[in-house]
Amino acid sequence: ASSDAVGSDLLAWYDAHARDLPWRAPPGTPAPDPYRVWLSEVMLQQTTVAAVKDYFTAFTSRWPAVEALAAAGDEEVMAAWAGLGYYARARNLLACAREVAARGGHFPDTEEGLRALPGLGAYTAAAVAAIAFGRRAVVVDANVERVVARLFAIGEPLPGARTMIREKADAITPDARSGDFAQAMMDLGATVCTSRSPRCLLCPLSGHCTARAMGEPDRFPVKAPK
Ligand code: ADE
Repeated sequence: ASSDAVGSDLLAWYDAHARDLPWRAPPGTPAPDPYRVWLSEVMLQQTTVAAVKDYFTAFTSRWPAVEALAAAGDEEVMAAWAGLGYYARARNLLACAREVAARGGHFPDTEEGLRALPGLGAYTAAAVAAIAFGRRAVVVDANVERVVARLFAIGEPLPGARTMIREKADAITPDARSGDFAQAMMDLGATVCTSRSPRCLLCPLSGHCTARAMGEPDRFPVKAPK
């Protein structure tokens, strides 16, 4: 099957099954506010979707725009962050909000520009560029890594396999709807292509999946022996 077929099958599945999450724009509406995309991606860096939801709603009610967050006091923001952990993230969050506020409240709209902001690593810059600005970007988190390792039955163990995984992820990323594609991969990894007992019967990509054809989807990604 071609790379294009993977993209179109996945997007069709996403149109029907996308999770309804507070930082997403409903299907068919314009791209979501970059501030909300950025805030959600920073919160999701080391924390699960279930745990992030309420924090995201609390933050955006209290600080509806990046300028509002930028004007908040350090202690206030640290207190609101309590429970999410990894407090360096909260410090970078505030530093980033202040930098963006100083730029007139506009986030840079390219991966490279985003990468220069405090707290934005390769993953977050790619995710925001794709989801908020519609830029084609290769967005790879642990869920995406697992989906790609299975689709192509990548036999090399992690972490070495990451170079190959990134190449394959690039090859299947469509030019259009790259933010939806990225979030569809995340949803697929979180709900269908789970690390144990993947639900291949529900998977829109099962016909493209080499690991599935081999009959052992959960062998991938291969982990390096400790
Ligand atoms: N994990 C990280 N970013 C996400 C997103 N935008 N949607 C769902 N899960 C995610």
